[in-house]
Amino acid sequence: MPASRFLNTLLSIVRIFRSKPCRRTSRCTRTVTNLAGLRFVQLVDDHAKPWELFDLSKDRSETKKMKTSMLCSALAFAWLVALNAARANEPLATFQPGQIWNDTSGKPINAHGGGILFHGGVYYWYGEFKEGRTYLSQVNKTWGGTRVIAGGVSCYSSTNLYDWKNEGLALPSVAEDPDHDLACEKVIERPKVIYNAKTKQFVMWLHQDSPDYAAAHSGVAVSDSPTGPFKYLGSFRPNAGVWPINVTARDKDQNATNFLARDFPGGQMARDMTLLVDDDGKAYQFYASEENGTLHVSQLTDDYLKPAGIYGRILVGRSTEAPAVFKHNGKYYLIASGCSGWDPNTARSAVADHIFGPWTELGNPCRGANADKTFFCQSTFVLPVAGQTNQFIAMFDLWKKWDLQDSRCVWLPLAFDTDGKPVVQWRDQWSLPVPEK
Ligand code: DGJ
Repeated sequence: MPASRFLNTLLSIVRIFRSKPCRRTSRCTRTVTNLAGLRFVQLVDDHAKPWELFDLSKDRSETKKMKTSMLCSALAFAWLVALNAARANEPLATFQPGQIWNDTSGKPINAHGGGILFHGGVYYWYGEFKEGRTYLSQVNKTWGGTRVIAGGVSCYSSTNLYDWKNEGLALPSVAEDPDHDLACEKVIERPKVIYNAKTKQFVMWLHQDSPDYAAAHSGVAVSDSPTGPFKYLGSFRPNAGVWPINVTARDKDQNATNFLARDFPGGQMARDMTLLVDDDGKAYQFYASEENGTLHVSQLTDDYLKPAGIYGRILVGRSTEAPAVFKHNGKYYLIASGCSGWDPNTARSAVADHIFGPWTELGNPCRGANADKTFFCQSTFVLPVAGQTNQFIAMFDLWKKWDLQDSRCVWLPLAFDTDGKPVVQWRDQWSLPVPEK
């Protein structure tokens, strides 16, 4: 049955049931001709019940046609309802922050503390693979540093940012050798991958650490393919024997609380980290250094495999973790957290005209319920949406301290307020593009 005829039938049925009884006489007759294209007579009585309001034409063949037509309508209607119900189970093109987010095989996405690379029209999402029982070892008891054994770095791919295919472990952890940097007992956190157009290599940097987080190293791995396998090159403390470009005479003083000077010979501590490739192709690592007290911005060599020996201290003494850095209209922006382990704190943001600073703090970018606790999350990355201007996704982790493998991904739109400050408004559900104000 054509859709127009089906609709017409439905409308006519509604009209009949809504029609008012005739007031002039106690009983009157009305003819309705457009119900399924068949003529029939509607009898309207003051006291009639709805099912008595119409009577089919006495013509038997017309009655038969009418019945068939109504049956078809009912079947078509039922089919539409069933189709709608089936669609409700299809993956929706929306982000649902904090909900379980399944990959295209139906398993929850397992990529924490991660970041995204856009390459050749495809987004690659790299993150910490966290699986297994959460435990609290003696060495981290004082500060509540729960752990799961390190699973390595997972990789997912997508062309639309909603549907993610599991590409497996781009860099697996090492089960057989407890001394290996990537041993399961050790720490593999906050991996980020960038592409080097000159060497045509994908370069991964990550926070590599001893089980008690004392080593504070940066690990580096490379691959010819975005999905790996990545070849692990080793780890180190960056910038050994190099003073930062904004060093002061006081910074060089050796004393118990001067971690910069303490670590000068062996290299600077590097824990939470991210990478940024600038418009001119130069790449930078941002890492939490000096016992997590101060962030360093460190330029990488042209092949992106080592520190270039040029770095600056930023947000000095502000105890900043979870840096997420992006560029907008020629300025550098940073979203980050304070230091409170897996527990949430108030997010912070900052802006700079030059990557080495000075960086000006812009306060808490979060808005909405629980904005003072970053929606119980911690930042990890800000993704500029490819091919769209002014569309940014702020990526967070909702850590479950006592069940780390069930930590959730929280993606929210990042916009700019009228003062040019980045703002992240909580949404239960949202889609791209976000209308600009
Ligand atoms: C906070 C950091 O941001 C995380 O990456 C992780 O290292 C936890 N601390 C460990 O407690």
